[in-house]
Amino acid sequence: MIPKTLEEIANYIVSDGKGILAADESTGTIEKRFRSINVESTEDNRRKYREMLFRSPVMAEAIGGVILFDETLRQKSSDGGYLRNVILDHGSLPGIKVDQGVKELEVGCDEKITIGLDGLHERCQEYEKLGAKFTKWRAVINVSDEIPSDNCISENMKALAEYALIAQQNNMVPIVEPEVIMDGSHSVERCHEVTNQTLLVLFEMLDKKNVNIKGTLLKPNMVLSGTENKYQATIDEVAEKTLQCLKSSVPDELPGIVFLSGGQSDLDATAHLDAMNKIGGFKWKLSFSYGRALQQAALKTWAGEDDNLEAAQEAFSHRAIMNMKAAQGQWNKSLEG
Ligand code: 13P
Repeated sequence: MIPKTLEEIANYIVSDGKGILAADESTGTIEKRFRSINVESTEDNRRKYREMLFRSPVMAEAIGGVILFDETLRQKSSDGGYLRNVILDHGSLPGIKVDQGVKELEVGCDEKITIGLDGLHERCQEYEKLGAKFTKWRAVINVSDEIPSDNCISENMKALAEYALIAQQNNMVPIVEPEVIMDGSHSVERCHEVTNQTLLVLFEMLDKKNVNIKGTLLKPNMVLSGTENKYQATIDEVAEKTLQCLKSSVPDELPGIVFLSGGQSDLDATAHLDAMNKIGGFKWKLSFSYGRALQQAALKTWAGEDDNLEAAQEAFSHRAIMNMKAAQGQWNKSLEG
């Protein structure tokens, strides 16, 4: 049975170790991913690749929802039906990215603001009619010694709260994604500080707007050392610091937290999630909404060849199962084979 209310939808997506496949790469981003395997980003190639993922038998077991880009929500599958129905037929829910990317917060600065509130209500009305059950909006917070400014955090979190309310008014669960970016030379402590402040402001804004927290999912970054920092936090440190951060800012009634992978290796993304679930001590489900960390292996295996589609499905299935186990604190390295 397809869940109907906001709360049913949010709970369904993260039930029994399930998580989200983020397949909402914009036209520019998917072109970059395809270029890495020397494949041209034509509409047909995008369809073929994503249909391979959505038809994987693992979908029913491990993937509660798929985030789509506008094109994919409207796109036909190879049998003349719609890709969104392939997702539903595999027991998963289609969702849609509704932000329209980022621009500079002020001319010439390194801070960003996400755009897309203009006309959002109308777009959401249409997406709901097309069958989307949930939505996603990503805010980008860059980190250095000087940034983010309080203004950058509050403007981005305000937009996230406004978006969340509009999504709920259209019967779709909002996934609020405040991404503190891992690129940079900052320390893990600095990431902790910025992530903590960001989440506190976010939940204050959601509360102010009367967003229904029980019908919302949070998609945060993990607390990591900046990629250029000499000291890289261990798996246990990342897990402890991330949980500390979430426990001090996220209300208990939120049904689920679904992490982004943000450029972590496939294994790190899985190991961190597992370590947090092994520690426990929280009310929300702690799961995944990975793009790269779920797709990298499948993309490489496919390499644009029809003969490789089945092997690519297997590569995707493996990562999905590993992350499902991690979402239940039941993963260990020996399962990787
Ligand atoms: P990554 O897991 O590759 O960070 O993608 C998740 C996502 O949806 C980014 O907006």
